Amino acid sequence: MSNKNAVDKLISHQTMAREDFIELFGYYQNQEVRKLLTGEALRLRKQYYGNKVFTRGLIEFTNYCKNNCYYCGIRGANSHIIRYRLSQEEILTCCQEGYRLGFRTFVLQGGEDPFYTDERMAAIIREIKQCYPDCALTLSIGEKSRESYRLFRKAGADRYLLRHETADEVHYRLLHPDNMRLENRKRCLWDLKALGYQVGAGMMVGSPGQSIRTLAEDLLFLQELKPQMVGLGPFIPHHDTCFAGEPAGSVELTLFLLTLVRILLPTVLLPATTALGTLDPGGREKGLMAGANVVMPNLSPLKNRKQYELYDHKICTGEEAAECLGCLDQRVNAAGFTLVSERGDASHTQTSRCIVSE
Ligand code: 5AD
Ligand code: FES
Repeated sequence: MSNKNAVDKLISHQTMAREDFIELFGYYQNQEVRKLLTGEALRLRKQYYGNKVFTRGLIEFTNYCKNNCYYCGIRGANSHIIRYRLSQEEILTCCQEGYRLGFRTFVLQGGEDPFYTDERMAAIIREIKQCYPDCALTLSIGEKSRESYRLFRKAGADRYLLRHETADEVHYRLLHPDNMRLENRKRCLWDLKALGYQVGAGMMVGSPGQSIRTLAEDLLFLQELKPQMVGLGPFIPHHDTCFAGEPAGSVELTLFLLTLVRILLPTVLLPATTALGTLDPGGREKGLMAGANVVMPNLSPLKNRKQYELYDHKICTGEEAAECLGCLDQRVNAAGFTLVSERGDASHTQTSRCIVSE
């Protein structure tokens, strides 16, 4: 057994145990191991996606939310923000502008807003897919019943983002009020997978109460679920939440996790998140160089951008979509990659991971 057993196991695509992931975090400060892991992540990324970086046009269509996650700026109990909803027409206008700019994936993201009943959502989905049949449509609208997910899928939705936030029960309780359950969140993700969605899970890095143990649990869960997408961004405190006084997550640790997730799930679609760019002006470029291959510029109307404030000091809230895209294009090029105008589905050529443990 070599003294870098967990690193060898990860790189040779063997099934990782909880203790293996914990061991990996022990190499966080080890520059030699970090270099090896980053090299492997970039090699895999290149093997499956070349130099391409995919874009997703993010449409934040409602900041109403019935939930009260302790970390989130748009939590229902926050009475200090101005709430807004986009009409179907406004959403379609965002798509129109997005399509013109070259976006071939639209992401409808919102709080859990009861105004958008299943029927209303299905109508919006159908219309977008009818107008833009060559585009992928991603939903990010929280926990729903299997029946609702089935309806949205039938209406034409292709992908679904639902970060699990933390796979550790005790940590989950620290971040969420009593009426939310990790078990239900996981049920949602498994249902979405079974219904044929490309699914995205993920977590904030550095959320209050997070530890190496909870992160190991997250990686174990990702290994089991095998989502096609993983959303990973640093936690950033929002002034109107219970965690206002908590420190932000670490950019460096986020980069390390991007690298680990790229190796764990080689064909994963992995965004360099806005939160990463908010904490560090070069954060998204660093994300790409750590293994990420997706960026998600904002297509929401300018007048609503600042109102979708999940955390403080969010970037890109003052730019038109076209400006944002131009800026990102330059940043992506500077990092040695190329922004492409494609749907950007997960590569199907992934070889399945060996399921035999050592
Ligand atoms: N900091 C960073 N990310 C956050 N999110 C919510 N609140 C914050 C915050 N304060 C993330 C959650 C959610 C996604 C839409 O945004 O992970 O799933
Ligand atoms: Fe709605 Fe957090 S309060 S996602």
